[in-house]
Amino acid sequence: MKSRFFPMAFFLVCAAPFCTTAQQPGNFFQQNCSACHTIGGGRRVGPDLKDVTKRKDRAWLEEFMEDPPAVLHKRDPYALQLQREANGIAMPAVPGLTPALAEALLNYIDAQGGAAPPPAAAPSVAERLFTSEDLAAGTELFQGTRPLSQGGPACISCHTLGTMTGLAGGRLGPDLTLVYQRLGGRQGAGAWLTAPPTPVMQSVFHQHTLQPDEILSLLSLFEDASQRSHPAAATAEIPIFLSGGVLGAALGLVLMGWIWRSRIGSVRRTVLKAAQRGAA
Ligand code: HEC
Ligand code: HEC
Repeated sequence: MKSRFFPMAFFLVCAAPFCTTAQQPGNFFQQNCSACHTIGGGRRVGPDLKDVTKRKDRAWLEEFMEDPPAVLHKRDPYALQLQREANGIAMPAVPGLTPALAEALLNYIDAQGGAAPPPAAAPSVAERLFTSEDLAAGTELFQGTRPLSQGGPACISCHTLGTMTGLAGGRLGPDLTLVYQRLGGRQGAGAWLTAPPTPVMQSVFHQHTLQPDEILSLLSLFEDASQRSHPAAATAEIPIFLSGGVLGAALGLVLMGWIWRSRIGSVRRTVLKAAQRGAA
């Protein structure tokens, strides 16, 4: 009850003049930040923002939020440390984050800080083990042979997946083979897909939200892909990377040999015949 009351109290306060910004910071936070941050609900891709204004001064935080890449670019030691703690992931610039909104967001975060984590801010993915049905459903959703219930476009129109050989995926979005690890496993990637924070993904899926069961299926697919293409990522990144390269080169040679043979076959036959005729 208390946690429900808290955002409401905030919106009442919001009748005050500082909230005349077009965007309510609470809504803005849900749509643009909650995929990577909680307020008191633990770390996601980015740090838990509870008490953030006690850790670091507001001026710094506002500057950072308005343009994280610029602050990282200056090699700001605190920002670099945050990035290390986030497995090297940097916070992207969030479109529409004006100075006034940055200030309002910090006020919002402060106001939430004392309460339990707001219910809607912590979409957590079911804990059960993935099944082969999840994997099959994820594959179909990714490829578009099973439509997304809210009508979003199939992932394959913009993404490739290393384990889906023989199917050419789109190139607009990045390859998703290792996305499961990159976004922090089931919880991190799950939160990400619940409210995609990046420009293209957000504009595509804002109106066509992925449903929890669909997200679970897709996570199963991504877990499988990352395991199969990077079986021991944590312990043996370099050898696997190398052997992948060697394997690729070997395959390339075999393929070239094959193409060469069939292409040269007919040429060689005529040349051979000519040579034989010449010798005779
Ligand atoms: C795609 C994920 C992502 C999104 C979306 C995102 N952040 Fe971040 N955020 C991060 C990461 C990762 C870090 C820490 C790494 C770094 O230095 O960039 C961070 C750091 C921060 C920090 C500094 C935290 C500290 O402990 O000092 C603040 C404040 C912050 N983010 C606020 C926001 C707000 C507000 C939004 C929404 C308008 C937002 N972030 C959206 C990933 C994200
Ligand atoms: C219209 C093209 C398009 C479609 C369809 C699409 N994506 Fe994306 N996706 C992108 C682009 C472009 C990016 C790069 C970030 C951005 O600009 O949004 C991206 C980024 C991502 C990322 C983050 C990758 C990373 O390395 O950080 C994930 C995860 C993702 N998409 C998952 C999906 C899933 C799952 C689907 C299908 C349900 C899907 N996408 C459908 C274009 C698309």
